[in-house]
Amino acid sequence: MLIAAAEILAAGDQARDALRARLARACLAACGDAGRRLLRLADSAAGRMLLRLSEFAVLPGIAAHYGWRKRHLWRWVHDDAVAGTRQLLVLGAGFDALGPRMAARHRSLRVFEVDRPGTIAIRTRALQACGIPRSRLALRAADFAQDRLRDTLRSLGADGFDRNAPTTVVAEGLLMYLPLPAVAALYDDLRAHCRAPASVVATAMECDARGAPGFRRQRPWLQRWLARRGEPFAWGAARAQLPAVMAAAGIALRETIDPETPRDPDPCPGEWLFRGTLHR
Ligand SMILES: C[S@@+](CC[C@H](N)C(=O)[O-])C[C@H]1O[C@@H](n2cnc3c(N)ncnc32)[C@H](O)[C@@H]1O
Repeated sequence: MLIAAAEILAAGDQARDALRARLARACLAACGDAGRRLLRLADSAAGRMLLRLSEFAVLPGIAAHYGWRKRHLWRWVHDDAVAGTRQLLVLGAGFDALGPRMAARHRSLRVFEVDRPGTIAIRTRALQACGIPRSRLALRAADFAQDRLRDTLRSLGADGFDRNAPTTVVAEGLLMYLPLPAVAALYDDLRAHCRAPASVVATAMECDARGAPGFRRQRPWLQRWLARRGEPFAWGAARAQLPAVMAAAGIALRETIDPETPRDPDPCPGEWLFRGTLHR
């Protein structure tokens, strides 16, 4: 819900109709009282000020970080689509518009989105409310803490998931919530199911000097709040360890975004953005 609110704030009044903001609004509206409260805050000047103050109190720069992350991930997925990817599989799609936007941009791309049942139910209602076509966009509910991705992939066959088609697999803001064996199981199942080349785009948390995963500027109460919400970060990796950690999960890294690039620094460093390929 917070990422959706950040999308609405980033779009501002000018871009209320942009698909990103429209889907974010529809998802929040479908989220019950908490979502509607957040939407009301995002829609008033006083509410936006309160959201900015809360951001400063908990994790300064996080809203801009989401924009930065989504810009880089869009570019990588777009590059893949131009290079011949025929399927986009988004794991932990949340309330994000990457899938529908890519389907609209690339007419031969099929999009498959997976998330937990509650999120998929909200997303389904929101897509319908926005009038987003579903002819090349299929959704499935799965909880990666207990369900195997191989079962989801088999069931997506009924919606046209082709194990012989080049595929890009996105896991944005998801892997840090799963224990590392569950992360490895995700990519094992992909390797076993997909016969064509698969490109991987994902994010993972950085570790601090004591080995704790998190954002560099997070206030001490963020981890406690995430734990109370049932979403603590399960693991992280220092930059030097990331290739080995992802190799153990079956991914060969090709590129990691440098959060300190002077031209385009990460507004809230602590989450690695990387792309790679599945080990064969
Ligand atoms: C931080 S949100 C990111 C959403 C979206 N990818 C984005 O970046 O805007 C994490 C998403 O992962 C999903 N998720 C977390 N744990 C999951 C699990 N065990 N199985 C499936 N999805 C999960 C959540 O429901 C949520 O939609």
